[in-house]
Amino acid sequence: MSEKLEVLLTAQQLQARVYEIAKQIIEDYGQQSLVLIGVLKGSAYFLADLSRALPEEVRLDFVQISSYGAGKTSSGTVQLRKDHDIDIHGQHVIIVEDVVDTGLSLSYLKNLLATRKPASLRTAAMLVKPGAMKEEAIPDYVGFKIENDFVVGYGLDHAERYRNLPYIAILREDSDPKA
Ligand code: PRP
Repeated sequence: MSEKLEVLLTAQQLQARVYEIAKQIIEDYGQQSLVLIGVLKGSAYFLADLSRALPEEVRLDFVQISSYGAGKTSSGTVQLRKDHDIDIHGQHVIIVEDVVDTGLSLSYLKNLLATRKPASLRTAAMLVKPGAMKEEAIPDYVGFKIENDFVVGYGLDHAERYRNLPYIAILREDSDPKA
């Protein structure tokens, strides 16, 4: 089956938005130190760019979760596969995601990390899909709101491919009427 990539957000648009989000974060937190927790694997590129747009007082960590089920849709069950290492008690924490789809992952992580008593807990996602409304998981910092298309690039994959694209594209397959 052949696949077609239709550019949705260019590398320039993504980088410009990263700097706007970083500016907002700097305004919100001032000189306070931050812990950014990226959700593997998709957030890797956004986390790398966002952290480099912020002042030195930033520490990075990662979590990994799995939502059970194969293919392009999430099953609705979230499990923790890798926890963060930094003690976040009393720290200002931002969870960094590539995309919020149903919102289940972010809701799960917010609830989990809140039990560890950070000084504050916010969320950032480069992309938000319409389904996120269901779980009231709209991030505090949003790159772009997009439609319900299957997108790849800038960390987002299809069967582990396309993560390394510097842009975000809609992946269309032969069977897709819009392809
Ligand atoms: C993606 C994304 C979020 C989650 C969003 O991860 O990075 O973690 O799905 O979906 P939700 O809002 O419906 O919960 P994925 O499971 O594809 O793993 P990956 O980041 O390793 O690709």
